[in-house]
Amino acid sequence: MSFEQQVIVRRKRLVAERILEIELVARDASLLAPFSAGAHIDVRLGENIVRQYSLCNSPSERDRYLLGVQLETASRGGSRALHELSEGAILDVSKPRNRFPLAEDRSHSVLIAGGIGITPLLSMAEQLVCEAMPFDLHYCVRTRAAVAFKERIFSGPILEATNLYVSDELGLSKFDAEALFHRTLPERSNFYICGPFGFIEHVLKAAASCGVDKSRLHREHFHIDPVLTTDTTVRTFTVKLARSELSVVVNERETIIDALASIGVDVPVSCEQGVCGTCLTTVLSGEPDHRDVYLTDDEKRLNNCLTPCCSRSKSLTLTLDL
Ligand code: FES
Repeated sequence: MSFEQQVIVRRKRLVAERILEIELVARDASLLAPFSAGAHIDVRLGENIVRQYSLCNSPSERDRYLLGVQLETASRGGSRALHELSEGAILDVSKPRNRFPLAEDRSHSVLIAGGIGITPLLSMAEQLVCEAMPFDLHYCVRTRAAVAFKERIFSGPILEATNLYVSDELGLSKFDAEALFHRTLPERSNFYICGPFGFIEHVLKAAASCGVDKSRLHREHFHIDPVLTTDTTVRTFTVKLARSELSVVVNERETIIDALASIGVDVPVSCEQGVCGTCLTTVLSGEPDHRDVYLTDDEKRLNNCLTPCCSRSKSLTLTLDL
């Protein structure tokens, strides 16, 4: 993983309950690497802590990156470290990468955000405004205090495209994903969904039941459902390393990454949740038990690679190209 840019935290401000907007500028005051709507950067927050954050400003801005960072109650160091940073702190960050871009067909876009999932979608909304392309933004939050970036959403050109759903509030209509897919013309629209795992799964299920073509659905996960990482059926298995001829037993309470580290083999990691693909490793034999959301279903079926930060093994032995 490379960190090609050094940035300074120019400003931090609270934009909703537990959500900080963090403004980063180049340390040497130069222009930052360009990005497209939906892109993210890797941020190094310590020796072994790297996290991805979506850029939430308009791609037309080259002098700054804006992040929206929610303080997670179960933070493993990422969001807490960023919340505790002082203005003036220096960070190493990667160039932006985009695994959640706007499709070429922008004749109508539907942006569906759950909570902090608003961050890349806000950048997309501003891009679509710049291009004068039609879109709708559906923004779902639990409480009004959780509504972030109010001044950009509710007073700018995005306002008339925005539908806000506050689940704890009476009087506001509730978000109904199926009704949305029924009343939008799915064959003419591209849908962009971002938020917690459960939210995305709910929306995708509604899309499937309405027969929406998968090629029109684009998503970005923020968190993995705990069910994927606290499975009580996990078993012990052995990992063999073909190149170094080492092997290690992975017990029920550790990840493949942990077990490899115990014999001195470090695999680069970032999200440690099966989201980013940083740890992707080639499998030479054995049957992986894929627990990530990075690989597509087709890629998982090939069983020729796995994400050792969260995936396990269905076979008693797994041989990796390490
Ligand atoms: Fe992100 Fe493994 S570290 S998928």
